[in-house]
Amino acid sequence: MIVLGIETSCDDTSVALVDADKVLAMCSASKDLDHAKFGGIVPEIASRNHTEFLLPLIEELQKKSGIQLSQIKSIAVTQRPGLFGSLIVGIMTAKSLAQTLNIPWLGVNHLEGHIWAGFLKDELISPKFSETKPFLALAVSGGHTSLYQVDKFADYKILGSTLDDAAGEAFDKWAQMLGLGFPGGPKVDELAKKGDAKKFSLPRALLNEGDLNFSFSGLKASGSRLLATLSQAEIENQKADLCASFQAAILDVLILKLDRAVQKTGIRRVTITGGVSANSRLREVAESWAEKNNIELIIPPMRYCTDNAAMIAWVGRKRLLAGEFSPMNLSASASSYPEDFDRTLLVTKR
Ligand code: KG4
Ligand code: ZN
Repeated sequence: MIVLGIETSCDDTSVALVDADKVLAMCSASKDLDHAKFGGIVPEIASRNHTEFLLPLIEELQKKSGIQLSQIKSIAVTQRPGLFGSLIVGIMTAKSLAQTLNIPWLGVNHLEGHIWAGFLKDELISPKFSETKPFLALAVSGGHTSLYQVDKFADYKILGSTLDDAAGEAFDKWAQMLGLGFPGGPKVDELAKKGDAKKFSLPRALLNEGDLNFSFSGLKASGSRLLATLSQAEIENQKADLCASFQAAILDVLILKLDRAVQKTGIRRVTITGGVSANSRLREVAESWAEKNNIELIIPPMRYCTDNAAMIAWVGRKRLLAGEFSPMNLSASASSYPEDFDRTLLVTKR
């Protein structure tokens, strides 16, 4: 059953075709430069860009895959959580196509997509361990930082989440304070390679709390106070050390909480997804942590780490095959539904 996936929850516009658990093709677009001058994603600009990009991307997808719309059997679209105006562009396109082609459509939770992104298969990759065994999923990006326990498909428990900023947001804000531009993560990553992570001492929040939550707003405030003690010339000369120290404060917490989650649950299979998993140092430290502790780890390639439609089509396909579909009057939801990550609340099928 070929499923068309559509993702427009934030600033990335993405479409993909998935069949028999394999990604057949994917086309994506985003325009960081449009948002860069504002130092972060501007929802209105993101929605306008989706309107411009989406249908041409679907045309490109057909050309790339050689698969026509008439061969698509159902549509999965990100319906929650995300920027409302952005979600609507994808949802209205999905509904219109579904009605025209007379096929079912399904609204999917974006975070469920991230949870399973490590298991996407294509011509170039296949996952390192089976999706049928329980695993821990850390989704860490500009919009989310959450740690899930996955016992099986559609059975999720949130072990911990950020209480304030997402990790990627902290990277972006730090880069903005240093005048590095947007998105800041890759720039901080690059500079940090040449810096001394021990040069500046910055806080590791909630390390002693014993729980699995995260907090990055205190780090941002400490970073800002640290910069206020330095002259412009000192900041300029020590940018690499500043980036390495800030980055280490984020990564230390991510790895420690992952380690704590492994110990608490006894589950030794882990996936890390989301834009921040592109961080070269995070990949290094996570790989060596996994090797040292005999943990099976999947960090998918970048195309499946950042927001993408393949993960939405993959999750949607599983649910559609199980008989789920959405009604034509379903709209977007800016937040997840309580029952998405708590099975005890699941009373009726949507
Ligand atoms: O998953 P994503 O593309 O979009 C969402 O936010 O959902 O993630 C983007 C985030 C941004 O905050 C960006 O700064 C961060 O991922 N990021 C990185 C790196 N590449 C992207 N953070 C740290 N190091 C990187 N190399
Ligand atoms: Zn995302």
